[in-house]
Amino acid sequence: MQTTTIPHTDIEVTRVAFGCMSTAANPTYDGIPDDDAVKTIHAAIDLGINFFDNAPAYGNGHAEEQLGHAIHDRRDKVVIATKASGQTLTPEEIKADCEASLKRLRTDVIDLHQIHWPRREVPMEESLRAMEDLKSAGKVRAIGVCNFGVEDMTEALNISTPCTNQVVYSLLARGVEIEVNPLCADHHVGLLCYSPLAQGLLTGRFTSPDDVPDERARTRHFANSRPQARHDEPGCEAETFDAVQRVVAIAQRVGKPAAQVALAWLLHQPNVTAVLAGASKVSQVESNVAAAGITLDDETLAELDDATRAVKEAMGASLDMWATPARTR
Ligand SMILES: NC(=O)c1ccc[n+]([C@@H]2O[C@H](COP(=O)([O-])OP(=O)(O)OC[C@H]3O[C@@H](n4cnc5c(N)ncnc54)[C@H](OP(=O)(O)O)[C@@H]3O)[C@@H](O)[C@H]2O)c1
Repeated sequence: MQTTTIPHTDIEVTRVAFGCMSTAANPTYDGIPDDDAVKTIHAAIDLGINFFDNAPAYGNGHAEEQLGHAIHDRRDKVVIATKASGQTLTPEEIKADCEASLKRLRTDVIDLHQIHWPRREVPMEESLRAMEDLKSAGKVRAIGVCNFGVEDMTEALNISTPCTNQVVYSLLARGVEIEVNPLCADHHVGLLCYSPLAQGLLTGRFTSPDDVPDERARTRHFANSRPQARHDEPGCEAETFDAVQRVVAIAQRVGKPAAQVALAWLLHQPNVTAVLAGASKVSQVESNVAAAGITLDDETLAELDDATRAVKEAMGASLDMWATPARTR
């Protein structure tokens, strides 16, 4: 498995990481039984993954508990990323939430601690200083952010140096390429790509918008008439499903599953530290791990770019897949 180091650290991580959001029930996923979660996490470790991304927001702490249970006897084999998921990001909240995460994860240190979403309750400086204090206290080893657009990242870089910016990035969500990744690359802030399979769309398993369950059709790809939508846009369903069809055809020509080609494409993009692939089955982890071994030639990369350009244009530069007005800036 390809590895790299988290920028500004000596923490070595696998470039295909395991995203823990789908193991515990949340607004997007039903979650899986604890025994299956443990089995899937153990399979990921056995298949060579060492990097796990979690958050208190996933199943209200339950995804952290599942991971803590699965890794308590193999802590030295894993790098744990989790998040400050609170609503206010006051120093007090950040400190208390970190202690709660450490307890659920059954560890005494979080390897990468990230601000989950920018909040505007207190000045960013107070929140980032609180994260730095956790580092000085030895509770966390490195600090990152998530969902930071150009404005937030510029402000953050004047205060501290986040190692990573965790953002939505896939063949169907390329807004980060427009402004945010160039800024991050200039400052050696690595990208951690979330929803790299567009929550399953890029596996080709849904062939029309009607196939997609409402909880996964909340994104701006879909019309705002979908019952759980929180945006006011018409969506780009035709462009999205045309792109998926073209990605599936390209994958067939390459002789690999579409999911693997989608992850491999991301691993070829500049400044990408790792892709955070969610999985609810061992077979999915097996497939996702295999993506790390795929080299795509320039012609295939250009075809994938072309196949998904209309979606990129329709979705624009916003990093917020779910809401208008965007919570990112
Ligand atoms: N920072 C943030 O704000 C943020 C937001 C979202 C996600 N994340 C992180 O990113 C991780 C991944 O994101 P995500 O779960 O939204 O999206 P994703 O990784 O694009 O999709 C994961 C889902 O796709 C399906 N899947 C995965 N591998 C597959 C395969 N090989 N073949 C067929 N289906 C496959 C599974 O669906 P089924 O379970 O239905 O089979 C799985 O639960 C999360 O776990 C989390 O760590 C962060």
